[in-house]
Amino acid sequence: MIPKPVVRYPLPNDLQPDRLPQHVAVIMDGNGRWAKGRGLPRIMGHRRGVDTLKTLLRCCRDWGIGALTAYAFSTENWGRPVEEVDFLMTLFERVLRQELIEMMAENVRIRFVGDLSALPLSLQQEMQSAVTKTQHHQGINFTVATNYGGREDIVQACRALASQVQAGNLAPEEITEALFSHHLYTANLPDPDLLIRTSGEMRISNFLLWQLAYAEIYVTDTLWPDFDISEFHRALAAYQQRDRRFGKVKA
Ligand code: FPP
Repeated sequence: MIPKPVVRYPLPNDLQPDRLPQHVAVIMDGNGRWAKGRGLPRIMGHRRGVDTLKTLLRCCRDWGIGALTAYAFSTENWGRPVEEVDFLMTLFERVLRQELIEMMAENVRIRFVGDLSALPLSLQQEMQSAVTKTQHHQGINFTVATNYGGREDIVQACRALASQVQAGNLAPEEITEALFSHHLYTANLPDPDLLIRTSGEMRISNFLLWQLAYAEIYVTDTLWPDFDISEFHRALAAYQQRDRRFGKVKA
């Protein structure tokens, strides 16, 4: 079999390699509208959205961005028509199965955040297998938020800490921001430096509420399936113009 040529994306000259975000989070919005605008069923937008995500993941890896986290399914998305929810679950499972070999070859470490126990069992198994098989990879940390809600994340961390206090293993005054972060689904990942949201909505939509405290937010009107490398380049150029002060004044 002839191996597929490896596509590499060179870093554009105008981007400063030492000022890139180390963790990019994305709210992939606008799949339905993209499809509707073309007279297609909504699911075609999700299908195309997977291609966008694959390209973005490669691009992040090639440009030296250490982590990408994508909001694939929120705790609120169960309220969508049952056919769409079923389609998304099947799509996640199929994509995971199909892309695993490539992710292995490309040194991607995949993780999932959210309450995975509510997902179909076969999807949970596929996720577990992908996590295990890629756990020692160091190319890029790719995190997929599935059945994720920022409030639920905070509540489950509170529960875990409360149980430790109840068991007498932790004193309330020992609870620090660092310890709390360590009990979130995203433990061991740095907080995102940049949040990108497509399709123009100015909302966080219950994504990474704690972790986005100091993230720069970039919103574009472009719909997710159309968010290509040049759009990502624009987002990073805008990010590099920002003055990140973290609540302090400039030195
Ligand atoms: C939001 O667009 C998109 C979603 C809720 C699903 C996103 C999922 C993918 C792109 C697939 C990712 C796959 C893997 C394996 C991680 P929308 O449907 O809300 O669009 P609309 O606002 O135009 O209706």
